[in-house]
Amino acid sequence: MTRFLAPLESVFLSGIRRDLTILALCVAVAAVPSRSLRSAEGEGAANGKDQSGAKACRVLADRRAEEPLRTIAKEYAFRTGSQISFRFLPVAEVDALVQKKKAECDVVIDIGEKKGSTSPVGELPGATRVAWKHPTGEPVWAAVLTDNPNAAEFVRFTGGPTGHRLWSESKAGFTITTGKTHAEAFDWVVENRVKHTYPMTAMRMLREIGGIREGICIDIGCGTGNLDVELAKRSKFKIIGLDIDADMKPLFERRVREAKLQDRLSFVTGDAQDLPFEDDYADVIVSRGTLTFIPDIGECLREVDRVLKPTGVAFLGGRYIYTPQAYKISNEKLKKIVEECGVPGAKVVEQRGQWVKIVGPKAPEEANTYQGGPHMLVNRFIADYAITEGKALLVCGSDGGAQQGMQQGFVESTDLEITALYPSDKVAAAAEKRIKEAKLSDRITCKVGTLVDLPFDEGSFDLVAGVGPILIWDHREKKMQEIYRVLRPGGAALVGGKYLYMPDFRKVSSETLRAAAANTGIPSIRISDDMGQWVEIRKGIGNGGLRD
Ligand SMILES: C[S@@+](CC[C@H](N)C(=O)[O-])C[C@H]1O[C@@H](n2cnc3c(N)ncnc32)[C@H](O)[C@@H]1O
Repeated sequence: MTRFLAPLESVFLSGIRRDLTILALCVAVAAVPSRSLRSAEGEGAANGKDQSGAKACRVLADRRAEEPLRTIAKEYAFRTGSQISFRFLPVAEVDALVQKKKAECDVVIDIGEKKGSTSPVGELPGATRVAWKHPTGEPVWAAVLTDNPNAAEFVRFTGGPTGHRLWSESKAGFTITTGKTHAEAFDWVVENRVKHTYPMTAMRMLREIGGIREGICIDIGCGTGNLDVELAKRSKFKIIGLDIDADMKPLFERRVREAKLQDRLSFVTGDAQDLPFEDDYADVIVSRGTLTFIPDIGECLREVDRVLKPTGVAFLGGRYIYTPQAYKISNEKLKKIVEECGVPGAKVVEQRGQWVKIVGPKAPEEANTYQGGPHMLVNRFIADYAITEGKALLVCGSDGGAQQGMQQGFVESTDLEITALYPSDKVAAAAEKRIKEAKLSDRITCKVGTLVDLPFDEGSFDLVAGVGPILIWDHREKKMQEIYRVLRPGGAALVGGKYLYMPDFRKVSSETLRAAAANTGIPSIRISDDMGQWVEIRKGIGNGGLRD
């Protein structure tokens, strides 16, 4: 996944203070157009008008940006109903047309020569830097040349959160960031790129720490406090965010004020290798995305062990998706550091990221077991596809613990409007009763139907999820095709499970599922064996969205 990330953005995420003079420019980024503007994809540019009646927007662009721009335009058309028509040329030709004032389009886009440079487009009045080009960090510039309202809106969309996700997912490997100081740049990236992952990380941490929910919690390398706010919302902890970068403090405090959590959250400037706390002070110590940037991880772990109460648990690490290669370390290397640091009870956890867990000698027993489960399925959607709003179909073969856990996870961590699909009226009625008692009727609607013939229109859902053997035993191809049909372009589906207790004769090999998937004709379908066996389907963005 890191292959998509430009070193520059990674620097901002790294937590290492660097020369940020190149960051003097700020890009104004507006929110994406509202989903309520959505209309059917594919109609539109007839007679040069789109569905809103406005003139279709003509974009002249550097052909190196073709793949991400086409992806972004597809999503833009889906959300707004407005079509973009492109003309891609070699950059020298684009620039020559710009310089001769013969671009003859509404928007022009080119890529600067090197990191920190402008370009003929970048020098036009009001030009905006909308992305960085991987791997050397050249900026992608866009300028609006006409008063076509779609032009300005498309540029905002291209540089906005959805655009960022699509730039970075593209095989062309674009990505973005902006800011004046490291802390500001980091905050910007958090707001626009990774904010949606914090509830998931907080949930994961709370499950790992064996039921401890009150006392002192220290967050090492807290940055701007997003994780801390999410942890506080779900616990009674008094949380101390510690960060080596004092510039994080005002941003942390602003976030805490906005969440009205000033009485429980505070910021301390300090170094993870020399914690400013007395022995046995904290009930819980957490850290996200910071560990691998600490020069002496062993020293940090010894400090964590010193400060942690014997009844406490520490869970430190992350998925490091956006971390530059230079600051990643292999599981083997981390295991060696952990073994040699001399902290009893410290171990590396490799599930869904790379973590170090320290379980105190008197900590709750549950802290020793992995607390993942179906509720964690939501993590995959949030972290891998950034889908947290819109419509979700949760395919429930029954209303057991797995299905209830999955629903709970989606309710807790997303704003998705959930439809739960049950195989019979009887099961659906029982589920409906349970959902009503749990006061979740406003979030979950029950429906009866089967995967072979889903009772929904094409393109109805942003995501489809399911746990259990709901498609492996029969009509596999038809079921995969049905899931694909009901996904909207840009949507994602993940169905499967760990099948821990399933007898071998009931299991279906991944090869068999791969053969079925290959027969479906779906362009973006994959069977993965990552913590279970999963069928992953994406729609409308080619294979670019499938993770490897
Ligand atoms: C990638 S950011 C993660 C921030 C935050 N945990 C989050 O997930 O939003 C890494 C953070 O670690 C901090 N950091 C780096 N080295 C540190 C150290 N030795 N001690 C404390 N904080 C450190 C950086 O200043 C930065 O805020």
